[in-house]
Parts: sequence; structure tokens; C-alpha cells
Amino acid sequence: MCCGGCAKCLGVTLIPLAVLCTLANILLFFPGGNVESSDHISSEVWCFGGILGSGVLMVFPALVFLGLKNNDCCGCCGNESCGKRFAMFSSIIFAAVGVVGAGYSFIVSAVALNNGPICSSSNGTWLYPFENGDYLGNHTLWEMCDSPQSVVPWNLTLFSLLLIMSGVQMVLCAIQAINGLLGTICGNCCGGDGAV
Ligand SMILES: *[C@@H]1O[C@H](CO)[C@@H](O)[C@H](O)[C@H]1NC(C)=O
Repeated sequence: MCCGGCAKCLGVTLIPLAVLCTLANILLFFPGGNVESSDHISSEVWCFGGILGSGVLMVFPALVFLGLKNNDCCGCCGNESCGKRFAMFSSIIFAAVGVVGAGYSFIVSAVALNNGPICSSSNGTWLYPFENGDYLGNHTLWEMCDSPQSVVPWNLTLFSLLLIMSGVQMVLCAIQAINGLLGTICGNCCGGDGAV
């Protein structure tokens, strides 16, 4: 097995996930596809879980993982496995950054799903009408949200996608943390067997 090649697949997967998470977070600023004033946008959207946690912060581990394959056998001090070991070791640190970023996004999404969106009730007051995720299992409750139209399915869909995608990001970064640990310990796995 070549650890660098594996890291490259992880990096290639993390980039589109980061882009999609950023997009999902941006769409959440337009509840139900409408332009609303900032106090009519659910507070969890302002945590920037998808943009910062799953987006910007994920770019660093993704790029490092992508570069690992090239760094693999360049070596340092004329010692191939030494250079590879150092690259794999530093990837553990970036994997940890990725886990923290994706974890933040995951927690924000879970809280947002539980709280439900802010919306205007039929008498025109803006509030969070749901509690403890009760609306998830009861469609009738969705009628408490009069405006913006479709704000409940909008938030539900986007935060669910964010939850799933940040969960996948966490798993991928955890895999690279283990991969990097193995690569640090057995620094020569890219050489000998020819599996480059
Ligand atoms: C859903 O919520 C409505 C309104 O509170 C309530 O009347 C109804 O019994 C609930 N349905 C279920 C299945 O819990």
C-alpha cells in the first residue's frame, strides 16, 4: 500500500465537499430562496459552519493531502524515507485541523436541525416556533411558519446535507490521521513494493 496515493484520493474528495459545504451555507442566508434582513436568518447560519469549518479550514488539509504523493519520495538529507516520514507526520497535524473544522460544522448543523429555523408566524411575529426537533417528525407543525415560504424544508435540506458532508469530512480526515501515523512509523511503504 502506498500511503501517499491514499492521501491524494482523500484530498481530491475533500475539495468538492468543501465547495459544496460553502455553497450550502451561502444558500442558507437566503431562507426559502428569499432575501431577508439579517435578523430573519436563523442564528446557526451566522456560525459559518459550512463556510469556515467545512470550507476554508478544510482547504489546508486537502491541499496538504494532495501534495503528499509528490513529497513522498523526494527525501531529505538524501534519505527518502526520512522525507516521507516528515510529510506523513505533518499530515497528521493538518488532519487534526480538518477534524476540528468539520466537527464544528457538524455540531452547528445538528443544533440547527434540532432548533429549526426562525420564521414569521401567521400574526407576523418572528420567532423559533419549534423546540427539540419536534417539527422533524410532525409535518403539521410546519404550518406555524407562514413566511418565508418553504423556509422549513429549505433549512432542513441544507443543514442535513451539511451534517452529512461534514460527517464525511471528519471520517476522511480521521483516516488520514491514521494513515499519517502509519506512514510516520513505517516510512518506507512507498518504496520497495513498487505500489506508487
Ligand atoms: C402534530 O402537531 C399538531 C399540532 O401541535 C398536533 O395536533 C398533532 O397531534 C401532532 N401529530 C403528531 C403525530 O404528533
